[in-house]
Amino acid sequence: MNQAAVEGRLRICPEACLLYRVIAREESAGSGWLLNAVPVPDLAVLAPLIDRCWQPMRYHVLQLESLGLRVAEEAAGEHAWVGVLPMKSKRATLGMLARAWSCLARGGRLWLAAANRHGARSWQSFLEQLGEVRVMSKNKCRLFCVVKRLPRQELLSSWQKRAAPVYLEESGLWSKPGLFSWDRIDTGTRLLLEHVPDTPVEFCMDLCCGYGALAVGMLDRGMSIAHLALVDADIRALRLAERNLRRFDVPCRAYWLDAAREDLPGSMDLIVCNPPFHEDQHRDSGLGRAVLSRACASLRIGGQLWAVANRQLPYERTLYEAAGEVHVVAQEKGFKVLMARKGG
Ligand SMILES: C[S@@+](CC[C@H](N)C(=O)[O-])C[C@H]1O[C@@H](n2cnc3c(N)ncnc32)[C@H](O)[C@@H]1O
Repeated sequence: MNQAAVEGRLRICPEACLLYRVIAREESAGSGWLLNAVPVPDLAVLAPLIDRCWQPMRYHVLQLESLGLRVAEEAAGEHAWVGVLPMKSKRATLGMLARAWSCLARGGRLWLAAANRHGARSWQSFLEQLGEVRVMSKNKCRLFCVVKRLPRQELLSSWQKRAAPVYLEESGLWSKPGLFSWDRIDTGTRLLLEHVPDTPVEFCMDLCCGYGALAVGMLDRGMSIAHLALVDADIRALRLAERNLRRFDVPCRAYWLDAAREDLPGSMDLIVCNPPFHEDQHRDSGLGRAVLSRACASLRIGGQLWAVANRQLPYERTLYEAAGEVHVVAQEKGFKVLMARKGG
């Protein structure tokens, strides 16, 4: 692994650095799994000991794989150690902890590191329900280690339940904790749905689809779509979007892609998009611009991109440069709806 190249490309995340360094020091005898693995430079020291990683976001997976690591869609097996980095959603993290515990061999060690500003202390009390917790503090982070003595099946089931998919009566959609606006349809998404025209289309893409609220909303009101593409970087969201679209008689294909860096399906008549504005905990309007610019490249000549964004986000110039024509169709409730048409 070329450490200099890795350091140039990857972001520093102190809790991940602490987790990787301490596991590498203390677990030299056996291999284990890393859940929610993020690719920071210190991963190089642990890489030889990692059997597999689990990570839902495609942009991290691409980097993990480029470092030679194997990534699995689900955690499985019996391991000597499992390392966990919490996600922003407490409920999603509890589900991940339940999986981590169930794929530890008896006597195996669960490691978790969190930044103090992301509520590290609160993880200690959850972990104490599993067993005696060893605590280390460094660089405004805490690292915890628990040895697996008991299966704790009931506790794990209660954590899994808190992270499991939920049916949202109001929208008729399946969703789960950890996804964008997971328990109610976002205000911007609703606004975009109000404005997208009902004209029949041949090829349509729900770009950055989440659990599929936009595509389902359009089909629910009877819009005719001959082929639908669903794209998201989060595999958990994409699986739910596929599930939510099963009740419609529309050929639908799901693409697990980093829409800011990978090629998207082309020749689209219509693209709808509520673009991301942060990666992990980092706000970044460049991300939305990169996604929208690639979206325009996927339109056929005359095809339309409909997008919604917070009013202050500067997307008009990007759309103009990439498509040739852009209109602000509506401005309401702090959001704007933009329509770009691809010129010849
Ligand atoms: C603002 S949410 C919109 C979700 C859904 N369309 C809705 O309106 O509820 C943005 C979505 O983009 C996804 N995402 C973030 N970064 C991405 C990337 N680089 N490529 C593709 N999708 C990405 C997130 O997983 C999330 O589902």
